[in-house]
Amino acid sequence: MAIIKTKAEIAILREGGHILAEAMQHLSTAVRPGVTTNDLDKMFVEFITARGATASFLGYHGYAKSICTSINEEVVHGIPSDRMLQEGDIIGVDIGIRYKKFCTDMARTFAVGKISMPAQHLIDVTRNSLDEAIPVLRAGNTIGDIGATIQQCVEAEKCSIVRVLVGHGVGQSVHEEPQVPNYGKRGKGRVLEVGMVLAVEPMVNIGSSKVEFDEDDGWTVRTADRSLSAHFEDTIAILEDGPEILTR
Ligand code: MF3
Ligand code: CO
Repeated sequence: MAIIKTKAEIAILREGGHILAEAMQHLSTAVRPGVTTNDLDKMFVEFITARGATASFLGYHGYAKSICTSINEEVVHGIPSDRMLQEGDIIGVDIGIRYKKFCTDMARTFAVGKISMPAQHLIDVTRNSLDEAIPVLRAGNTIGDIGATIQQCVEAEKCSIVRVLVGHGVGQSVHEEPQVPNYGKRGKGRVLEVGMVLAVEPMVNIGSSKVEFDEDDGWTVRTADRSLSAHFEDTIAILEDGPEILTR
């Protein structure tokens, strides 16, 4: 659909984003040792179904679950299973809904019990890079300004940015134009306009930026060096008076 959303469409996205944020809050209370990633998937479906939303990932390019759960060296697109979370793990929870035909997308990385200092640092750096990038989503700035801001935050802390996966526009499809890389040059790329709705989603590794795609399950993305990876994502609307985070 069109890259520029109307005020009425953004009003629906705002409602959907609110449901999604509440679903994430609900899942966050369940993350602890002994919980399986299938448990989280089930909780999510129950929560959103009760609110009139559906899981936008289910069936997307044949994806068989409703959320993505990526543990430790898994970067994104980990598939829920009977695997139990263990003390010291970090888990990226990536969720998306379709509500009144419109998609919203968000991800958070959680600590399972007590985690190492480097793991906590990685989570903080990734979250902070997203928080720093959000004020950049103003009409007149560029896609490159968003990526440059994230890149600067991450590289200043000696972490690395995954480059082969990017953020994206959202609307009636899970992924729409434009692509939103987590690296870039200030002033470069498409100019941001009022009415754009973007999912910004830094994926950050402690070690090398190189990743591998699981050939058996067809989905899971892992760091090539098996170092830890974190992921945060919000859906953000660019309004006349600046960015509005739809998923908080
Ligand atoms: N959440 C992913 C994104 O942020 C999309 C996952 S699609 C799935 O872009 F099919 F893998 F679930
Ligand atoms: Co996304």
